[in-house]
Amino acid sequence: MAAEVLEALKPRPGGRYADGTLGGAGHAASILAASSPTGWLSGCDRDGAAVEAAKSRLAAEFAGRFEIRRGNFAEMAGWVPAASCDGVLLDLGVSSPQLDSPERGFSFQQDGPLDMRMDDRQPLTAADLVNDASAEELAKIFWEFGGERESRRFAKAIVHDRSQRKFKTTRQLAELIERISPRGGKKAHPATKIFQALRIAVNDEIGSLKRGLEAVVKILKPGGRLAVITFHSLEDRVVKEFGRERTRDYTFSGEVDVPELRQPRAPELKWVTRKAIAPGETELNENPRSRSAQLRVLEKI
Ligand SMILES: C[S@@+](CC[C@H](N)C(=O)[O-])C[C@H]1O[C@@H](n2cnc3c(N)ncnc32)[C@H](O)[C@@H]1O
Repeated sequence: MAAEVLEALKPRPGGRYADGTLGGAGHAASILAASSPTGWLSGCDRDGAAVEAAKSRLAAEFAGRFEIRRGNFAEMAGWVPAASCDGVLLDLGVSSPQLDSPERGFSFQQDGPLDMRMDDRQPLTAADLVNDASAEELAKIFWEFGGERESRRFAKAIVHDRSQRKFKTTRQLAELIERISPRGGKKAHPATKIFQALRIAVNDEIGSLKRGLEAVVKILKPGGRLAVITFHSLEDRVVKEFGRERTRDYTFSGEVDVPELRQPRAPELKWVTRKAIAPGETELNENPRSRSAQLRVLEKI
């Protein structure tokens, strides 16, 4: 999505940009390159390893043109000046280094501790949830964050198994799911949704996204743009609903939008593209993980 992000944010010399999900700083580097020689980037990531990788990558080429902090993008408005940004990027989800490091515990394909924390300073891990949450809480997580139809069955099986042996590793959990839901001819591994759901819960990804979108509106200047890349329908729905609410020229009280009860107000944002942008064929061939990516772009009025 590199070209699409640049097309959306249109970085220019002297412009100020923010990247709330630095990861390996691929997008950050292309924003800085496109805004050379004087564009500025404020960047953050919750992951300490990502922050270190981003710092050394950007320092080599763009020294003196960025500020990087470790933290949640939901807190960006606390250190990026209000109404200062021409463009902000949120490239949500997990990075390849996170997925590919067994010791981070994000992947059921490799054995590692059942961790899944993007920020290892937070105490709550996936093992804590799996070993301590009630069957009802686990089923709710699997259903709401994973759309897992067998959420109750998996939750009950976990609660049963953990009374004999605590869950410590990704393999242990993946094996339990495989045992009660054999793979058959299905394309996706049966633990895919369970791992996604636990990761979203451990990192409070939906709460962070909602707060992050509020923060972005504060730091964008009028005419500035927000580009958000989502990787599953739950995230995309949050972005769509946020956009729908902030692009309306009225508010309404109560649960239902009744035309007679609308109060006019100036919209804060406008859609730059009505529909989500999907990755092109070249990107899909080069990076199969991008297959579920969707880019949405909003502009502050
Ligand atoms: C898909 S990767 C980003 C890749 C990056 N754009 C690049 O070009 O390499 C997502 C990154 O966002 C980080 N992240 C996810 N949610 C976050 C949040 N709420 N606050 C800060 N960082 C977050 C993850 O730790 C991960 O490093």
